[in-house]
Amino acid sequence: MLYKDFGKTGFKASAIALGTWGIGGAGWDTYEDAVKLDAIVAAVEQGINLIDTAPAYNAGAAERLVGKALEQNGLRNKVFLTTKTGNEFIDGKYVRNGRPERILSLCDESLERLRTDVIDLLLVHWPDPNVPFNETFAALVQLKEEGKVRHIGVSNFSQAQMEEASQYCEIEAYQPQYSMVSRKSEELCRWAAEQGMGVMAYGALGGGILTGRYRTVQEFAPMDSRNRFYPFFKEPLFSQVMGLVQVMDKIAAAHEATPAQVALQWTAARSFVSTCLVGAQTRDKVEDNTKAFDWSLTEEEIRILDQAVEEIQL
Ligand SMILES: NC(=O)c1ccc[n+]([C@@H]2O[C@H](COP(=O)([O-])OP(=O)(O)OC[C@H]3O[C@@H](n4cnc5c(N)ncnc54)[C@H](OP(=O)(O)O)[C@@H]3O)[C@@H](O)[C@H]2O)c1
Repeated sequence: MLYKDFGKTGFKASAIALGTWGIGGAGWDTYEDAVKLDAIVAAVEQGINLIDTAPAYNAGAAERLVGKALEQNGLRNKVFLTTKTGNEFIDGKYVRNGRPERILSLCDESLERLRTDVIDLLLVHWPDPNVPFNETFAALVQLKEEGKVRHIGVSNFSQAQMEEASQYCEIEAYQPQYSMVSRKSEELCRWAAEQGMGVMAYGALGGGILTGRYRTVQEFAPMDSRNRFYPFFKEPLFSQVMGLVQVMDKIAAAHEATPAQVALQWTAARSFVSTCLVGAQTRDKVEDNTKAFDWSLTEEEIRILDQAVEEIQL
């Protein structure tokens, strides 16, 4: 495993972190709880020291599984536990709520589900346009002062929103979508890293398309995240991304590796990325992903990949 500085926090994060949106169980493929719990344990065994979850991942279901896996296996002290606030999953819909009273009560609910008395990093999941930032972030500062939260960050914020939030508290982490097929936030990632924030690239496998698992357009359920959230699973992007995956196939084969490992090595090589968030619900996938740093791309391969990435018109 490779470890990188997580902004100015002093924490060295594994370059791959375990994401748990899928583990929550809504909008992704379905597995037994035992399989998902084992994937969480496998992640820690393989050197992953950051787990990302959220109350919005199936209304607390992901947090519950993370809490159970960590407590039952005595692993709480081995991970920098990250969860979120200001966004909930209610009756199948994602609902933003940055009201201070809900930020406070939601944190207590997260602590209980995660079976811990402190959250290492609490992120505002999405900005709530209906609540002034000074109110939302005052509640976060209160949680830090009460010792319930160690660090505060944001996800899906613009630069202006991060600058405004920084007036009310120190923003130590930024979580945007970033991968070989999603580079719109690249300048913002660079800026956030320069400010000393830990940058957490989510969807680092493009929702799974960069693993080579899909070779034809799939029929996912309407609420599946690969239909709703990630645009590459439909044409015209699908065929463009398949062109990139074919380039990745050749490079992976030359190293007896997988396209997923190529994608993670490429993203982790960006100096502004502190950690790549990867959602994997099974031990075999976690083990595949964590082998990404057992080998190295050559300079020529990096050049070929960069060119293929540039050719995609996203
Ligand atoms: N802040 C935000 O707004 C936000 C938004 C999106 C995501 N996130 C975070 O970022 C994490 C990662 O993003 P994501 O889960 O949306 O997408 P992702 O990690 O890019 O892709 C997840 C998909 O890839 C599959 N996969 C993982 N490793 C694989 C492998 N080695 N071979 C084949 N398939 C593999 C998973 O399969 P299985 O499910 O079958 O295991 C799942 O279908 C999330 O879990 C969440 O923690 C945050």
